[in-house]
Amino acid sequence: MSTIRTESKEASVEPAPGTGRVHVVTFGCQMNKYDSQLVEGRFKRKGWTTTDELEQADVVLFNTCSVRDHAEERTMSWVGELKRLKKERPQLVVGVMGCMAQRMGEEIFARAGHVDLVAGTRQFAQLPTLVEEVRRRRAQGETKVRVAALSMEDRLALDRDDEPWDGGAHAYLTVMRGCDLNCTYCIVPTVRGRVLSYPIEHVVKEARHYVERGVKVLTLLGQTVNSFGEDLAAPGAGERQWSGRQGRPGLGDLLRELQEIDGLARIRLITLHPSYITDNFARALAECGKVERFLPLPAQSGSDEILRAMKRGYTTDLYRKRVEILRAHVPDIELGSDWIVGFPGETVEDHARSEAFLKEQGFAVNYIFKYDPRPGTKAHDGLVDDVPDEAKKERNQRLLALGEEVGLLRHGAHVGQLRRVLVEGVKEDGRLTGRTEHGLMTAFEGSESLIGGEVAVKIEGASGYGLGGSLAGSS
Ligand code: SAH
Ligand code: SF4
Ligand code: F3S
Repeated sequence: MSTIRTESKEASVEPAPGTGRVHVVTFGCQMNKYDSQLVEGRFKRKGWTTTDELEQADVVLFNTCSVRDHAEERTMSWVGELKRLKKERPQLVVGVMGCMAQRMGEEIFARAGHVDLVAGTRQFAQLPTLVEEVRRRRAQGETKVRVAALSMEDRLALDRDDEPWDGGAHAYLTVMRGCDLNCTYCIVPTVRGRVLSYPIEHVVKEARHYVERGVKVLTLLGQTVNSFGEDLAAPGAGERQWSGRQGRPGLGDLLRELQEIDGLARIRLITLHPSYITDNFARALAECGKVERFLPLPAQSGSDEILRAMKRGYTTDLYRKRVEILRAHVPDIELGSDWIVGFPGETVEDHARSEAFLKEQGFAVNYIFKYDPRPGTKAHDGLVDDVPDEAKKERNQRLLALGEEVGLLRHGAHVGQLRRVLVEGVKEDGRLTGRTEHGLMTAFEGSESLIGGEVAVKIEGASGYGLGGSLAGSS
């Protein structure tokens, strides 16, 4: 069994500061964004600087995604672009890290000969040491240095107290790694390993660290974030008892703790799984006003037969019941969903059930993906990818259009209301952008000085994807 170790500060021998400039390119999901920040933080802590300019970097690291083939191909072509740069500057260190590195391992060296370093999904904290190893071996005259670190040995509870933070008002916070479910289409459990939740005290400490540095919005990340804590050891007699199984902490407990942090305005959650929706969690949601009333709760399909073949662990009926629990406590909750079209065996009727379910549940935000067989998954190895690409494309288009239509209805229902918008940035058209308490994207005119604050916005218009309005006051 794997254990969680807190990194010891004594163990990190500090090389001389100013050892170089690191440029990190991030593909994939929010967890990768968090991990990239974590990696940058590890380098900064050792005296390195980060740069946005690839051409100026001494080390270029790609943080990669394996979820669909397209993601991998795009990454490989980016990595390929560096071949020329490496020829001009042989001292450059090129590394591939994250999900694709974990899946392909040393095969990456064979596909891209100019890559020096491959590091898996639980090696992020070691990156500065691994880069130093490449450099040291080069300095010793080794001509073709290749360093691979792919062990899933965990090093999770990183002490980030002394890391500088210049990331603005929003920060991602990974509260658990890996996934214990086995959806048949999905590569994530293979590349990210089994679930490991961070100890609740550790998450709270990290959250405080960010808030002290000006963060107002925290997005808590986990593949099934509402299963947070299930893998932690139950507390002993005399230790604090939480509300989860045998006194373990659950996501509800974590939310209640974070709700108490002064200066933190918003808490966002990505991604929830229907199987772990409990009354306790829904109650915590109702109690904690800082948690956005928006939950990404992917259905994937509206056909029970396809859900079974996907091994999602629920039927449409069970999904409905879980949403009823949520709505009983938070009636105005908005939901988002991911959908896979063209899963093996999906008939026209199955697809029609997905459309009906999207409509019935009224998902405000929808992400649609064409099924892509991933080597190493059960669906790839055991099922025939029998839906022709043309049909996948058509179903994709249909669901996209329906998602927009339903999204418009949901967003439209907020028109005329006064909403609290946490301002997070500026859009290309110069308007400010942020999210309402229901997590809906909202654009409006205003001064950039409002970024990081919460303002009242009168909602005046809606599209299938967001809201527009005008400033009614700031708080
Ligand atoms: N843990 C999350 C999803 C992580 S992957 C959950 O369970 O909902 C993000 C999304 O990618 C999934 O929701 C799914 O819709 C999509 N996806 C994953 N594997 C896929 C595949 N092989 N083909 C197409 N889409 C896929
Ligand atoms: Fe993949 Fe399913 Fe785990 Fe989500 S819950 S990461 S889709 S295996
Ligand atoms: Fe991709 Fe890995 Fe995230 S496979 S979706 S980057 S967990």
